[in-house]
Amino acid sequence: GSAEGTVVAIDGPSGSGKSSTARGVASARGLWYLDTGAMYRAMTWWMQHHRIDVDDAAAVAEAAGRPDITMGTDPADPTVRVDGRDVAREIRTREVTAQVSAVSAVPAVRNRLVAEQREVIARGRRRAGGIVVEGRDITTVVAPDAAVKIYLTASAAARADRRSGELGGDVGAVQADLVRRDRIDSSREDSPLTQTADALELETTGLGLDDVVAIVLELVDRAGGSG
Ligand code: DC
Repeated sequence: GSAEGTVVAIDGPSGSGKSSTARGVASARGLWYLDTGAMYRAMTWWMQHHRIDVDDAAAVAEAAGRPDITMGTDPADPTVRVDGRDVAREIRTREVTAQVSAVSAVPAVRNRLVAEQREVIARGRRRAGGIVVEGRDITTVVAPDAAVKIYLTASAAARADRRSGELGGDVGAVQADLVRRDRIDSSREDSPLTQTADALELETTGLGLDDVVAIVLELVDRAGGSG
């Protein structure tokens, strides 16, 4: 019920507009925001910083408990700290992007981060009346009982266009990297990116951010009374 706060779960592939949509929705309704991809990126950054071979799954698993990862939940300023250091920028580099799929396929990494994500969600429900959470396994694993569950999609070309607009770089190379990551994220053994029947599919190719946010807000407001 609304007394316990509303959880909005958004999954989808890279560049589908999850972050912009989730932040827009959270801002509009005064909810917390959690970017779970940033947590996997922060873990990857820490592994690289400590020269751990990310292709060595046993080494990654062994180290997975060591970094202290703290996420800010303000949609206007979603901070990411690792051992007290602000890494919001560093986690978006090409180096981190290239290796984050490998790190996030390690079950020890997922077990740890999923537990922390559930704690943030519980706090957001109590303190902010709800939280918007985005990632790859939010509707399926992290918060399968969320009041609103959405699977955002867009064509690979549209997603590459958006990403290269944000990060720069050749659109063709960006698209090749997106497709490669989608394949790893969707085919891994532990909690792959999957679209379930009870999540609403929102295909955003050709839609503006405001349109997508408006659609999700309608679902949130409808769920507010009952879920
Ligand atoms: O959303 P993003 O591109 O910042 O996510 C980075 C990577 O993290 C992505 O390639 C897959 C992984 N990820 C995940 O495995 N589970 C999540 N809930 C979120 C992201």
